[in-house]
Amino acid sequence: MSIIVNQAKDVFHLQTDHTSYIFRVMENGELGQIYYGKKIHPKEQYNNLITRELHDATPAWTEETPDFQPELLKQEYASLGKGDYRYPAFQLTQASGSRISEFKYQDYNVEDGKKRLSDLPSTFDDTNDGAQTLIIILVDQITGIKLELSYAIFPHQDVIIRSSKFINETDENAVIDAAYSAQLDLPDSNYDLVQFSGTWARERHLFRNKLRPGIQSVNSLRTASSHQENPFVMLARPDTDNDQGEVFGFNLIYSGNFNDSVEVDQFDVSRVLIGINPDEFAWNLKSGESFQTPEAVLSYSDSGMNQLSQQLGDFYTDHLVNPTFAKKERPILINNWEATYFDFDEDKLMTIVKQAHELGIEMFVLDDGWFGKRNDDTTSLGDWFVDNDKFPNGLNHFSQQVHDIGMKFGLWFEPEMISMTSKLYDEHPDWMIGDPKAQLIPSRHQFVLDMAKPEVVDYLFKKIDQVISDTDLDYIKWDMNRNITDMFSLHLDSAHQLELGHRYIKGVYQLYDRLIKAHPDVLFESCASGGGRFDLGLMYYAPQAWTSDDTDAIERLKIQYGTSYGYPLSMMGAHVSAVPNDQTGRITPLETRGTIAYFGDLGYELDITKMTKEELVQVQGQVDFYQRYRKLFQFGKFYRIDDPFEKDGNITSWEVVSPDKKQAIVGRYQILNHPNAPYQRQYFKGLDPDKQYTVNHTSETFWGDELMSAGYFVPKVKKNKNYSSDYSSALFVVEEV
Ligand code: GLA
Repeated sequence: MSIIVNQAKDVFHLQTDHTSYIFRVMENGELGQIYYGKKIHPKEQYNNLITRELHDATPAWTEETPDFQPELLKQEYASLGKGDYRYPAFQLTQASGSRISEFKYQDYNVEDGKKRLSDLPSTFDDTNDGAQTLIIILVDQITGIKLELSYAIFPHQDVIIRSSKFINETDENAVIDAAYSAQLDLPDSNYDLVQFSGTWARERHLFRNKLRPGIQSVNSLRTASSHQENPFVMLARPDTDNDQGEVFGFNLIYSGNFNDSVEVDQFDVSRVLIGINPDEFAWNLKSGESFQTPEAVLSYSDSGMNQLSQQLGDFYTDHLVNPTFAKKERPILINNWEATYFDFDEDKLMTIVKQAHELGIEMFVLDDGWFGKRNDDTTSLGDWFVDNDKFPNGLNHFSQQVHDIGMKFGLWFEPEMISMTSKLYDEHPDWMIGDPKAQLIPSRHQFVLDMAKPEVVDYLFKKIDQVISDTDLDYIKWDMNRNITDMFSLHLDSAHQLELGHRYIKGVYQLYDRLIKAHPDVLFESCASGGGRFDLGLMYYAPQAWTSDDTDAIERLKIQYGTSYGYPLSMMGAHVSAVPNDQTGRITPLETRGTIAYFGDLGYELDITKMTKEELVQVQGQVDFYQRYRKLFQFGKFYRIDDPFEKDGNITSWEVVSPDKKQAIVGRYQILNHPNAPYQRQYFKGLDPDKQYTVNHTSETFWGDELMSAGYFVPKVKKNKNYSSDYSSALFVVEEV
């Protein structure tokens, strides 16, 4: 039983294997938060946890209840305007213009399992993993509008999924000005906010700051989760690290504007709000209609951040990612983007395909430039038909050749975009987002289609569906290379313009959904100039994502390490590219490029036909090695060991361990080689202390506890006459004897 309701039916205790989440119905009929954290015993009432003291200069609910002071109470889904001055979880405007709400508890339902939401990406429990869903029903005493707060409990991964739904069964219209997916009032503020921020080619670097009074928030107004911020955040006790300590994780299953905020109030309560960003948003809740928020993910661990990341990663694999691919090993691919950019034809590509196949690479991905007349990035987005100059025999013929050789075939699309120089623009200039009276802002010479317009989604579905069928496609890289400006839709009336952002994202989801239903065996990889939409909303449809356009191995250390806090390795596309690297100009050894890209979905993105014989042998070795340990790399338990964000960041190490602890691989990376350096040891994690192991298949054996506590001696990087030993790497393959 994950949901325990007391006899008076006013205390709800949600339990996972290791956590408790408790809230209650307060005297005023609204909901109050009691506790979230490590599992505690169920009780009828938690009077001690809700004691309150009368404070001066603070409004009270009624004259008779002077100590019931809303701004001093931990609330569950707070409104504004009734004595709680903190930022609210929602805000409604009634037909009269009044923005006062009084949502009071009415009833609850418990259901076994977890149903998917109908038109948003969402969690599910297809495997009967013990999920239960609690729905709390509240009714606004002023308007009669209903509010359902949903809590899905996934006991074994210690995850609670929250969302809310406003249902207007009254005769009057209303407007939702804000509707968060989850609120959590924590009783103190002794936490660090850990966020993953950056920019294009430098995504998801870790930032950790102590909470301070007032609001701190991580958010986006780009109609994308963005390169700059990520919806995944943590609140950790100051001494918490990867291996120990208390930490909460929060995320949102959504790809548009979001806001994760923490407000530390005057009495040190920390209010967490997770949901759609209320700025640039409003939704008409017309009579007879309802509004469902995206789902928020809440999780807690008292055993450090590694544990939190692992439970979240397991949870997404079991309950969010498309089950057709969730546990399926992902193909090793070769992508022609950094090899050729726009300069290719069928013959050139076939030389790459043949060479790649000889090395054991399993899929060829044809990137940007195969359609319309796209020889640079100024034209043709929207014209999803093949360029016959590059493929005189058609794309179908090319794909046939790739398949005949024995490789899978993947293709790049950027469905949401339009170039002004395109057939699509000539035919449908009004399909673009923007106010035609204004000077529209270009970005990468392209503009954005109005995905809120059903005809646009229909057009894209037809075009892409056709190409998939013609080419018997195995994989799609779905790109999105600019953020939206000029937010205006010709197809929405003035009252609905603030719905555009959410409608846009729903249009994207709808297109994904239709394509997946029509072609269930096509694997999707999401991309937004690299990692600009690396989020759970897209993970539902696209099991993997292009982590960053920055393929420099050394830059990838921080990017992949940072990303791993919130997302599993099976989601992270990681490619070996050429040197000097296109983004940084850095020259790193092929070995290091490979050993970093192993920790994710391995691919190659370089002109393999220009490699030397020795390099080709090395690539073949990498492919063989990865194939042998692919399951471990993509689905093993991931541990962060040496942190590139700490000290001088010179050493990074991380590890994957098999679920039965019989196998593990550590990757260790050194940025600069120091002369006459001190001795170094590599400490392992997650092994069985009582098992004996070999390291790199040599004869000496080691106990698991020895490798974890005493460590393993790391020999210094040998000097090499021909190149510096900077940017070196080592792998330690650990196998049970
Ligand atoms: C984006 C992607 C790249 C590549 C180019 C093609 O930048 O992130 O991987 O596909 O678009 O234009």
